[in-house]
Amino acid sequence: MKAASEMLAAGGRQALHRPLDVWKIRDDFPILKLKVRGNPLVYLDNAATSQKPQVVIDTLNRYYSEENSNIHRGVHFLSERATRAYEDARVKVQHFLNASSEREIIFVRSVTEAINLVVHSYGRKHIQAGDEVIISAMEHHSNIVPWQILCEETGATLRVVPINDRGEFLFDAYEKLLSPRTKFVAVTHVSNALGSITPVRQIIALAHRQNIPVLVDGAQAVPHFRVDVRELDCDFYGFSGHKLCGPTGIGVLYGKAHLLEAMPPYQGGGDMIRSVTFEKTIYAPIPHKFEAGTPHIAGGIGLGAAIDYFEGIGMEAISEYEQELLAYAMEAIGAIPEVRIYGTAPEKAGVVSFAIEGIHPHDVGTILDQEGIAIRTGHHCAQPVMDRFGVPAMARASLAFYNTKGEIDALVAGIHKVKEVFG
Ligand SMILES: Cc1ncc(COP(=O)(O)O)c(C=O)c1O
Repeated sequence: MKAASEMLAAGGRQALHRPLDVWKIRDDFPILKLKVRGNPLVYLDNAATSQKPQVVIDTLNRYYSEENSNIHRGVHFLSERATRAYEDARVKVQHFLNASSEREIIFVRSVTEAINLVVHSYGRKHIQAGDEVIISAMEHHSNIVPWQILCEETGATLRVVPINDRGEFLFDAYEKLLSPRTKFVAVTHVSNALGSITPVRQIIALAHRQNIPVLVDGAQAVPHFRVDVRELDCDFYGFSGHKLCGPTGIGVLYGKAHLLEAMPPYQGGGDMIRSVTFEKTIYAPIPHKFEAGTPHIAGGIGLGAAIDYFEGIGMEAISEYEQELLAYAMEAIGAIPEVRIYGTAPEKAGVVSFAIEGIHPHDVGTILDQEGIAIRTGHHCAQPVMDRFGVPAMARASLAFYNTKGEIDALVAGIHKVKEVFG
């Protein structure tokens, strides 16, 4: 039987028949065949970074073997070829997010850089002493620290929407925090520590009633369900390619064209200019105004291949499959005595964070590693979430569409083993 990547190569963007065939998909990921410490690898650290299908690996290989050249500058064959491939990838991202134009897609290093770009360009221009920026209590550090830096510089104040014990965004509290002082709202779409999906559409609609722009951190959303930036009506949306089966070092900032056009550049250098004299520089139009210097060309093209791969399977099929897997994992892990799950919001995606009574999460991770099971332990770059639940760390199993119920069973058996060892 053909692997999914071969079917994609043959059939372009054709969706596989539903329901998703996880075994066929697993064939596309060479790393999933690895044995770790004598056991088959069970990779449940997808929220940290996802694995790469052969088609993405081949795309990178082909780029460096057959296309490598600098872009936007050369008139020679390879430069034109590389430029076309990189700009085609931008169009793929545009369609993936349903943005109105490829001009609204800026290639950055990661979602971290996407947020920093908005903070330093939009934020520095529009946010002043006495203003307020609203975030939520379940942000990743990368959607906290840049805003803190801005607030320190400007004298603005960071306001935080609390969450409840299930890990849900408290909408009433958000409504109360919004005021004429609010100049920006930045929220995660899915919490990396708890898996909670935030009500971004309503968050955005409410902010827009007061003309407040909203940035959504989509790092943990785009790998799990379809995101439509026009339907959400968000002003900015960021994600990292490496969590979407793409290469590391490439990410995306979507921004509404009229906002991006009015924003000053984030960094200066080559490729972001129309003309330079010592007296005055005229910047290139968007998106190039925000892409100073030689970009991660291979990364952009590799991300395009990853998006084609996701679209070939179908985001709807992926969501449906992952929701079933998540429900299975929540039930199986939650049923183990002395295990507590953090993050029990009914609307959640991809993540099961837990702790075993009396056992440090690092010990849990270490014993599971002996079984070939990769999970994440620690504060998950979300220390305020740890504080909210009164723990220093959590263990986190995070899912992708190539995980199986058998792997969840292996995790459950591993947790029992941890309890035996420490019992
Ligand atoms: C919700 C969320 N935001 C931001 C980030 C930062 O991603 P990166 O390190 O790729 O910039 C992560 C990474 O785990 C995340 O989960």
